[in-house]
Parts: sequence; C-alpha cells; structure tokens
Amino acid sequence: MDKLLITGGARLDGEVRISGAKNAALPLLAGALLGETPVTLTNVPQLRDITTMLQILGNMGVTVEIGDQCQVLVNANTLKTAVAPYELVKTMRASIFVLGPLLARFGEASVSLPGGCAIGSRPVDQHLKALTALGAEIQVENGYVHAKRNGRLKGARFVFDMVTVGGTENLLMAATLAEGTTVIENAAREPEIVNLADMLTGMGARIEGAGTDTITVQGVESLKGGTFRVISDRIETGSYLAAAAVTRGRVKTLNTDPMLLDAVLQKFREGGAEITTGPDWIELDMKGQRPKAVNFRTAPHPAFPTDMQAQFMTVNVLAEGVGTIIETIFENRYMHVPELNRLGAKIAVDGHTAIVTGVDTLQAAPVMATDLRASMSLVIAALAAQGDTLVDRIYHIDRGYERVEEKLQGLGATIRRVSGKESA
Ligand code: UD1
Repeated sequence: MDKLLITGGARLDGEVRISGAKNAALPLLAGALLGETPVTLTNVPQLRDITTMLQILGNMGVTVEIGDQCQVLVNANTLKTAVAPYELVKTMRASIFVLGPLLARFGEASVSLPGGCAIGSRPVDQHLKALTALGAEIQVENGYVHAKRNGRLKGARFVFDMVTVGGTENLLMAATLAEGTTVIENAAREPEIVNLADMLTGMGARIEGAGTDTITVQGVESLKGGTFRVISDRIETGSYLAAAAVTRGRVKTLNTDPMLLDAVLQKFREGGAEITTGPDWIELDMKGQRPKAVNFRTAPHPAFPTDMQAQFMTVNVLAEGVGTIIETIFENRYMHVPELNRLGAKIAVDGHTAIVTGVDTLQAAPVMATDLRASMSLVIAALAAQGDTLVDRIYHIDRGYERVEEKLQGLGATIRRVSGKESA
C-alpha cells in the first residue's frame, strides 16, 4: 500500500494548476447516458473515482474513449445491460448517479446499494423517493435497487426532506425525459448542479432555476450529445490555499473559479490571509504571518462546504487563538481529529462541535488517512510539522486529488510517494 512521506517546514511558494472537479465530472459522466449521440467531456480529472465510474459504464457495454488532454467520450448507444454491480459500486457512493439516467432512457436499471461510508451512514432514500414520485417502480432486493417504469416517467412536484446534492442530480437527470413538468423543491444549489444542468440544457433539456432551491424541468422526448466542460475543482483549490496558509506561504491556484468558493475565501481573509483573484485564478499570501483562528459552520452551498472542513481545521490547528467548528452535514466527519492530535494539535470534539486551540508548531508522527478529505488535512498538517511524517492509506487521497505529490513538489514541498515495500 502506498504512503506519502512528507518533510515539513518548507514555506510553500508558487503556482498550481487546478484539475476538473471530481464531484462535477461524476454526474456529468452518468448524465452522458441520456444522450442519443455521444457526449464528450473536457477537463475531466484523472482520479480513481473517475476510473470507477468509467468501469461501471464500460461494464454495461457503454463505449468509453479516453482522449488526450483530459477528454472522455461516452457513447451509450452500445449499452447491453443496465446493471451496476456491487464489486464496483461498493468503492464509490456516487455510482448511484447512473440510476436516474438509466431508468429514464432505457426503462430499467439495477444498481447495487452503495451502503454507508466512513463519514456517516449516507442513505439513498431521497434518491429512491424522488424517482418513485416520477412513477418509477422501485424494489430493493438482495442489496440491489431495481427500478423500472411503465411508459414514460411522469413529471411531478417533489420536495426533498433535506438538501441532497446527489439526490437533486439523480432527479434532475431523470426528469429531463419525463412527460410533463417536474418541480424540484429544496434542491441543492451547488455549482456542480449548475454544471450538470448546463450540460443537460446543451443536450436539449429544458431546465430553469439550477443554482436556486427550486428547479423546474419540462420533460422532452430525447436528448442529444455534444461537448461539455467540467468545472474546476473548488475543493482542490481550497485545499492548496489551506496548504499555503499553514506554511505561512504564497500560492496562486490557476484554472479555477473564485466565484465557486466565496465562503471559504471569506474565512481565509478573516484568518489574516491576503487573497487576490482574477477571472480564473486565486492567490493566497500569508506574507510570512501566522494565521488567526476563525469560527465556521458547514452547511449546504453557498455556505461553508463540508468537503473543506478537515483541511480548514488544519489552518485553525496552527493558528493563533481558539476556533470553533460545527459540522452539520455528516455525523462522523471528525475522524482526522485523533490523527491531527497525534501530530501535536489541540482539538476537542463534543458531538458536532470541534474546538481547536492553535499551536505554534506540530511534530511529525506516522498517521493514517481515514477518508478522502481527512487524508488531505493530514498532508497539509504534515507540511507544517517538524520532521518526517508518513501518511498511510493514501488510496483515499487518490480518489479525489490528481497527482497530489507532484503538485505540492511544484510549490516547494518535500513530499514523495513510497511504495508499501519501501516503507515496511
Ligand atoms: C455530495 C458530494 C460530497 C459532499 C456532499 C455534501 C459528490 C459525488 N459527493 O455527496 O463530496 O460531501 O455532497 O456536500 O458530489 N442524505 C440522506 N438520504 C439521501 C441522500 C442524502 O439522508 O437519500 C443525507 C446524507 O447522509 C447527508 C446529507 O443528506 O447527511 C447530504 O448528503 P448529500 O448532499 O446527498 O451528499 P452526496 O450527494 O452523497
């Protein structure tokens, strides 16, 4: 099993190119199933989760061609079987995204239940309720969701019980081919949903309100393909800015979009960072100063994203003062806390609240990654720790950060990947 070996202490300085967003590319790849002609996506990141989605599509008989420069072509006309098996689904919850498009276009689908994951129970009840509201017949048997329809899906008004990104995406995709009008209430407003709606609109769908909490879809008979761009990864962007903040350095993130991470940039500013932005770049400069602790609370977009909680906690760990963090989205998203404390952080957790008392320095220790964003928080902490930190179980980081060690090396970090054998 690969590990990352990081020698902390270097002040990061330089430019880093941000990849396409994993959380946008995954629903776009699933949405490509809706096209009667091929869909080409550009700015697709090379990540383990993307490979898993391409395997799920390929396993169904869908033609997938990976081109140069982050392009992927998907031709769903060769589909043979609308089944997503457990062996693939178990490694990635977003596999459930294929359910809505398969059902809407091909009339039936069987997708293994993704089950829980380390950060919380994460059920898919809202996805299933939403598709049922459009007239789908859904049965859950032997760990699989079997969905089918008689005739076309029927447009309906549906109110989500809670704001769910994946649930909104699944319903949005299914509704594009339903008969009549679907109104999605309490919809998620994440930029990834706008990216998906823009692609579907480009394919011929009629959608209004994406990016607000009410999305209206007038169903059409069929959708065509086209070429669409995956938006930049706002969480990867925020993570490199956090790495700059903890090392009191300066990092310019390129190929990104400052409009997508307002809440996070505001917190960096509050913590004393100088932030400058252009149309497609963001620079954070600590000017050698130690950050100041800030309080924040995760909530659905446009509030502070849960996917930045662990990385920003690391900024508080090394900041001056005490910062309070409240996690409202997932019930078990503080697994990085004991690992950060092993490096010398002072974090106390009480339920959904973490109280972080800033320390001046951290000391290296072996640590273990528990999930995707937690693993990046450990890497960021290690960059500021004295000595050599070995981060284990980095397969988590490879799910969502493209070439992380190369990008950090480019900023002046001392980091390298060591194979299981080498570090044993
Ligand atoms: C997406 C992101 C993930 C991010 C999360 C919240 C992708 C591929 N993943 O995950 O990185 O952390 O949004 O911003 O885009 N819930 C239910 N029932 C459901 C669906 C959700 O109870 O049917 C609950 C979840 O357990 C969670 C909350 O709703 O507590 C929000 O989850 P959701 O927005 O659906 O997250 P994902 O779409 O899975």
